[in-house]
Amino acid sequence: MTIETERLRDRVAADMIRARERTTLLTGAVDDGDLIRQHSPLMSPLVWDLAHVGSQEELWLVRDVGGREPVRPDIDELYDAFKHTRADRPALPLLSPAEARRYVAQVRDKALDVLDAARLEGRRLTVDGFAFGMIVQHEQQHDETMLATHQLRVGSPVLTAPPPPAVSSPIAGEVFVPGGPFDMGTDTEAWALDNERPAHRVDVPAYYIDRAAVTNGHYAAFIAAGGYDDPRWWSPAGWDHRQAAGLTAPRHWQRDGDGWLATSFGRTAPIVADEPVVHVCYYEAEAFAAWAGKRLPTEAEWEKAARHDPATGRSRRYPWGDDTPESHHANLGQQHLRPAAAGAFPGGASPLGVHQLIGDVWEWTSTDFAGYPGFGPFPYREYSEVFFGPDYKVLRGGSFGTDRAAIRGTFRNWDYPIRRQIFSGFRLARDASSESAGDA
Ligand SMILES: [Fe+2]
Repeated sequence: MTIETERLRDRVAADMIRARERTTLLTGAVDDGDLIRQHSPLMSPLVWDLAHVGSQEELWLVRDVGGREPVRPDIDELYDAFKHTRADRPALPLLSPAEARRYVAQVRDKALDVLDAARLEGRRLTVDGFAFGMIVQHEQQHDETMLATHQLRVGSPVLTAPPPPAVSSPIAGEVFVPGGPFDMGTDTEAWALDNERPAHRVDVPAYYIDRAAVTNGHYAAFIAAGGYDDPRWWSPAGWDHRQAAGLTAPRHWQRDGDGWLATSFGRTAPIVADEPVVHVCYYEAEAFAAWAGKRLPTEAEWEKAARHDPATGRSRRYPWGDDTPESHHANLGQQHLRPAAAGAFPGGASPLGVHQLIGDVWEWTSTDFAGYPGFGPFPYREYSEVFFGPDYKVLRGGSFGTDRAAIRGTFRNWDYPIRRQIFSGFRLARDASSESAGDA
């Protein structure tokens, strides 16, 4: 066993433990009634997420990698995300909170045992600990989903975190990104998922991109200017949805005289003008962009801004370089329970000076979710491929609720353009050829 393999094993174990601590926090913060209850038809009961995390860990690590006997083959079907919609899950004969906790602990013991003995090479599933990385990311993704459920939960606050770092003069304006090719996606990131592969060259024409995400203050100005009542700014599909859903402001906002309050994890307070707007759908982002005389970036523009190093021509793992995210790089991992003003993480800026591409809010792009040229499904079609097509828009960069194990410059998230229970915001871009070019 090489030292490198041992180091990888230690890192995997630490990531698994960190994920479980977060799951335990999110499921331990509420009582059994709140674990079983469905807080929104968009979300599963928290107790479903909990046992589902264990079920996936059993399937991939205990049974597949470890070749061990099944722990609970009788519940596979209950926790198969493709068998039951979120809305249907509360009616299933789910494990009780106590049973679910026992089950995930039992699976975890076996999975750590498998990790001890696993050869982290050979099969594609085990090379560099891929299956373990996939399961760590899966648990962290469900933790973010559970955090979104907490945001939808009604009742007194149960989660606390310090506010994000304050900023005296927030970052604003835009940067020019010269035209030319860059390497999008990856062949080398060990835990990258199938949809991030393969690396391929993409020629991106010159464009401008904002140094910061759109803020609450800017968004309130759009509302004040009648943005929600003017079909000029909305795409036909966006306007239809705005009408049908009765949208008038981001989710969780409410009027307070001339201003706005927002409710965050059970606490209601005035919006903070300099912080990124969150809980907006794609159609709202698109309408704001049109009103502002700009547009959303394409996915390739977003990734070029986040990864391309003009000095060397190579693509970085993150905007700041190749180092794993630390607390000074980005607002990740629920360390703060809201996005931070631009400028709060100067150590995470890109070479061109674009801030906070990683963390804070998932950023809507204008691109439909699709496979890269040469895409191959792995380890199964349902991971990504079945979602390819015009129904889903790509979001990038992760949010304050995303763990560092589940985000990187190549990571792709996707959702329906009407969704806004997620921690979604956006930043703006424009063509370099558009009229006002150069006045940044
Ligand atoms: Fe899942």
